[in-house]
Amino acid sequence: MAEQEDIVILAQTALAHAYAPYSKFPVSAVIVTESGRRFVGVNVENSAYPLSRCAEQIAVGAMITAGERKIREVFILSTASEPAAPCGACRQILYEFADDETPVVCRNTAGKELRFKLGELLPAAFRL
Ligand code: THU
Repeated sequence: MAEQEDIVILAQTALAHAYAPYSKFPVSAVIVTESGRRFVGVNVENSAYPLSRCAEQIAVGAMITAGERKIREVFILSTASEPAAPCGACRQILYEFADDETPVVCRNTAGKELRFKLGELLPAAFRL
């Protein structure tokens, strides 16, 4: 699918910019919104470890900054042998702007892909 290829290229380009000197585990995330815009993020670590930010959180921040509010698809790229799925906190952060049916595509740089729906990854999400 041409759209998916574009997203892979975006994610690969960004992955090279991830700042992960402590974990040495670079991650990039591409969020596609309902209007079709794409927002990219990478993990940004910090010497004060708890201040580190996941790729998904950075992508969500870019999306909100641009005035977008509704996620259509999430794409996550890592170098892990098993494609990394979003951490628990990121599942909740994504859910704020998505729903149970939102596709979450997890891929590694070898091309292995796992596809989930956000509701599978985060059953009974917290919602006010
Ligand atoms: N990380 C992400 O950026 N996204 C994920 O979905 C999983 C984990 C980052 C956090 C940290 O910088 C590194 O990967 C290792 O946990």
